[in-house]
Formats: sequence, structure tokens, C-alpha cells
Amino acid sequence: MTEADRLDTLLKETRTFMPSQAFKNQANFADPAIYEQAANDPEAYWAAQAENLTWFTKFTKTLEWNPPHAKWFSDGTLNATYNAVDRHREGIRKNKAAIIWEGEPGDSRVLTYDMLGREVDRAAHMLKSLGVGKGDRVAIYLPMIPELPIAMLACAKIGAIHTIVFAGFASTSLKDRILDADAKLLITADAGYRRGNIVPLKQNADEAVEGTNVEHVLVVTRVGEKANTTWHEKDVSWHDLMAKTPTTPFPAEPMNAEDILYILYTSGTTGKPKGIVHTTGGYLVGANTSMRSVFDIKDSDVYFCTADIGWVTGHTYIVYGPLSAGATTVMYEGAPDFPDRDRLFAIIEKYAVTILYTAPTSIRTFMKWGPSYIDQHDVSTLRLLGSVGEPINPEAWMWYHVHIGKEHCPIVDTWWQTETGCAMIAPLPGLMTTKPGSATRPVPGISVDVVDENGVSVGPGNGGYLVITKPWPSMLRTIWGDDERFKKTYFGKFEGIYLPGDGAHLDEDNYIWILGRIDDVINVSGHRIGTMEVESALVEHESVAEAAVIGRSHDVKGQAIAAFVTLREGIASSDELVKELKQFVSTKIGAMARPEEIYFTAELPKTRSAKIMRRLLRDIAEGRALGDTTTLADPSVVESLKQQYQEKES
Ligand code: WTA
Repeated sequence: MTEADRLDTLLKETRTFMPSQAFKNQANFADPAIYEQAANDPEAYWAAQAENLTWFTKFTKTLEWNPPHAKWFSDGTLNATYNAVDRHREGIRKNKAAIIWEGEPGDSRVLTYDMLGREVDRAAHMLKSLGVGKGDRVAIYLPMIPELPIAMLACAKIGAIHTIVFAGFASTSLKDRILDADAKLLITADAGYRRGNIVPLKQNADEAVEGTNVEHVLVVTRVGEKANTTWHEKDVSWHDLMAKTPTTPFPAEPMNAEDILYILYTSGTTGKPKGIVHTTGGYLVGANTSMRSVFDIKDSDVYFCTADIGWVTGHTYIVYGPLSAGATTVMYEGAPDFPDRDRLFAIIEKYAVTILYTAPTSIRTFMKWGPSYIDQHDVSTLRLLGSVGEPINPEAWMWYHVHIGKEHCPIVDTWWQTETGCAMIAPLPGLMTTKPGSATRPVPGISVDVVDENGVSVGPGNGGYLVITKPWPSMLRTIWGDDERFKKTYFGKFEGIYLPGDGAHLDEDNYIWILGRIDDVINVSGHRIGTMEVESALVEHESVAEAAVIGRSHDVKGQAIAAFVTLREGIASSDELVKELKQFVSTKIGAMARPEEIYFTAELPKTRSAKIMRRLLRDIAEGRALGDTTTLADPSVVESLKQQYQEKES
């Protein structure tokens, strides 16, 4: 399906789904007046929501807004880990399961709030013994094992800033992030499991720390002997050190609400990833509030988010959101088709999961596999479903509704970003009528609009730029080390108004339909990848002179990467070289950035002012009749590319 067809089906969608009376009756947010109240006084709304956290010093100021810089609750103090763990140890949740962890090979571990708290305290002592203090940066490069949340919560407990790097990233990407954040400690594992294979994390980590200020590499043993790890001078065994640390409680560091909780890197329109900065108070208020409003979390829920903690979804909706709300959060280490395609449904049955949060690309994969893998299991405990990461096509939405939700679970399609910290546009499941393919309306306390090139509202029935018109507690505060880029990227187009970089359509009911990125960022299976990052990786290869990368639509992944490559003089194109270049990108960035296809071209199609015509490349990669080529400097370039595409298809 091409982009245009997709848009067409989306905008013709007319089905609506109302929350059932049964769901409404029990919903945390059940009074529709909340929308209007929050819209009339967003600050009062957020200040009231902030009461759900435990503050060491209560804030008296809610918002200070000097566009584009916001401070929320700035005279309040609190600690994220105290809120996520310790306060629950003091009451009836003490022995409640906080984290239910399922390992890929079939091992599992349950940590109650009290057990988790003890682990975090020991890890906090351990970090201190390694010289980590308040404000220091700790890079974490771990697979989805319990030590990952334990490590991040230990950082937050002592006031260190964690920067988690998804374990699928290659060593160069890890190194770039370590350097940019200037981390003094790296926490990694000997290796990880993925689809039964062993992923050599320690090896990547060893390469990444060279030439950085990392003083120690703290190594968790996940795989053991088969990992074949080489130990170096900087390395410290997590387990050995944990065994030596005191078992006494570690006092939570009182943090100012505006102290940094974490930095998380995400792709932008240049080759250099952006270190998105989130602070403690506002971020936690956003995460906690949306858990209660959008996810309707209850003490009786077993909540399962299938994301990886290496991405923002995992930060907010596996760790800080559910734990701050005292919920039971399920985390799964491995691939959804290991050992078989029913694995996620087996987990849902095993732990009686009530809320499932996953991505459209996963749903489309389940569709491809067929419902039999679901039907092998009892998934009747599910009561609410969520979707995130990319626009969900109505067909996938309906399939999710019918086959997984058995037509009785509301679906919350949640639009948000690394930068926004928590869900911004999403239905409140007890209040909002949903439409398949629309994230519906902003959550209470959030103001969004769809505007034209001049920042003027387009009004119902039209499309344009999605914008967020007022500050919100969990908004990014800056880009680490580059406030200018922060100002320019997000507030440069419309003054004082946040520009997410997505296109959107507003329908007659004021529902928002997200149309995807409008910048040079692509979304492959819900992973954000900058085209420039892939281009820079490609041109580092000795055979490559120039490269242009675009996202083309893909039935399962949403988008796939297509690369157009010009080779250096004297280098001949070959299938071997295609393979080599794909592999090269994998080792430079990570497997998720591996191009789906590579086209060789004597020249890239450029305008007379030397701008690469990406739209044209997209047309070629999607096999579409070519649009306007009149501005092209050398029309023959396109002809030969078209030919290559046709040969590939036949
Ligand atoms: C896209 C992931 C449509 C969007 C939480 C955004 C979505 C980017 C949705 C952020 C959704 C995320 N519907 N598009 N429900 N959720 N996106 O930073 O383009 O990894 O800008 O955050 O994903 O990706 P990020």
C-alpha cells in the first residue's frame, strides 16, 4: 500500500466505539467534566495531579514559563525512586509483585516492592562505592533483565542521571552517547539472549568505552560461560560487588523537581542524535497521571508493556509510570516468536495480564501469523489494550479489537514522543468514543492544534502541522549540551509553540489523525531513525561516495529504509556489495537501521540547487508514477533508477 492509499483509507474511516457501561462504571477518570476543567486551568489540573506523588518538600510554584524554557513545581523536592518503590514498601503493597520478569529461555523472577527496594538500595550503595554521585551520568547498556530497572532506579535514588542505550545499538552508537553525556560509569551485561541467539553486549561495550571518561564497566552476568567474555582492568562484576555492599537501606537523595532524572537519546534530522533531558518532578507527574488516566491502572491490574526499556516507552510505561502508581508491571526479555509465535499470549495467560500495551508493527505481525497463536491461550483477563509508536492503520486496530480484545476491551492509541515524556493524545478509556486509526483527542491538561505553514489553525476537516500550544509537566527541558538545537528544533518554527515534527489531520469531531513524520526522520517498526544517521554511516564505507536514505511504506514495519548509493570511481556494484553495505550499517548503528534495499546510482537526483529530491526517491522506492521532475538537474538519473526498481520487482 502506498502512502497515498493509506491516507485515503484512514480518512474514510467512520466506525466508532463507545466505552461499555461496565468499563465506564469502574474507570478512574469517569467524569467528562475533567476535560473542560483541565482546559480552563491546566496549571491547577497538574498541581492537583502532582498530589499523587510523595513530595519531601511540597512545591508552592506550579509553572514558570519563559518560552521555550519551562520549570514545573520548581521549589518542590522529591525522589523518583522513593515514589516508584520505597513509598509502596511502607504500606499494603509491601509484598505486592512490582516486577514480574520473564526471561527468554523460560526462566522468570518476581520482585515484590520490598524485594525490589532492597535490590535497589544495594545497587545504590554499589554505585556510591564506585564513586558515582549526584548529577553524574551513568550509561546503561543492558538487555531486558531485572538489573536494568534496578540500575536505573539505583541511579535515581542517589541522584545520578541515567542514560540508557537500547541493547540493539552497535558499539559506535553506544560510544557516541557515552561521549556526548560524558558518562563516568557504564553498566552492561556479558551478553543477552535474542531469539535463542547470544548477543555479545560486553564486546560492544569494550569497544565503546575506549577513549571515553568511563572509569568502570559494571558487568551483570546474564549468559555466563557461553558469552565468552574477556575481562579488562576497568571491569567490575555486578554480582561480586553486590555481595559486598551493605544491606542497610539507602536514603533517597532529595532532588529538586527540576533536577535531571535522565537523558535519553533519540534521532533527529542531523546525523547526531539528540540527548533529550527529562527532569524529576514534571516527568514523574506526567508518567504517573497518564498511568491512572489513560491506562486506568488499578491495584488489581497486571500490566504488560512489550516495549524495551531502552526506548522512552519502556522508561515511562514499564518503569516510572506503573511503579509510581504501585502497579504490577510485567517485563519480557526476548523475541515474541521464541520459542514459538504464541509467546506473548502465553505470558498473558501465565500471569493473567489485564492491560496490554504494544505497537502497531507487532499487531500487524500477529495478523500475518494469524489468530491461532492467540486462540491457544486464555487471554480473557485482558480488559484494556494500548498502542504506541506509529500510526495504527484501521485494519490493524480492528484486528487488535477483535482477536486480542475479544471485542470488549477499549483501545487506547497513544500518541507521544521521547520529548513529551508521556502520552499526549490518547483517549481516556472510560470517557472517549474511539475511532480506529485516530489517537482521538489530547489528554486533559494538554493543548494541541493542527496549524498551517503560518501557524494558523486549519480547523476541522483539514490537515497540517501538529503542534502543542502550552507547556506541560513532562516536556523535555532541553537537549543535553545543545540548548540552541533545542530552541531551533522544537520552537524555531512557531514562537512559544512546540513542534513535534508530525503531520496530522483534524476531523469534523475535532479528532486527531496522525499522519506520520514530516521531517527527515523515519519510523521503522516504531523505532525512530534519522535518515542522516544512516547516510553518514553509509558514506563511511570506503566504496561509497554519496548516499541518500528515505523511508518507504512497508506493510508490517510501517516504514522501511531504502538507500540510494553512489559508488566511488572504479568501484563496481554487485549483490555482494549490497549485502556488505547493509551489514556495515548494522554494525555502525544497529540492526534496526539496516536498509531494506539499496539502489546504486551514478548520480543522485538533485535539483539545480543541489538539493537531493527525496520525494522523488520515495516515489521510486514505492513504485509510484513519478511526480514533478521538472526541477531535476539531470533527468536521466531517474530513468536508470526506475529501471532498477522494475528489475527488482519482476
Ligand atoms: C510516532 C515513542 C502515530 C510519531 C513514544 C512520533 C505515533 C514518534 C504514535 C515518536 C501514535 C508515536 N500514532 N504516531 N500513537 N506514537 N508515534 O520518540 O511520529 O520513539 O513523533 O516515542 O513516533 O517516537 P519516539
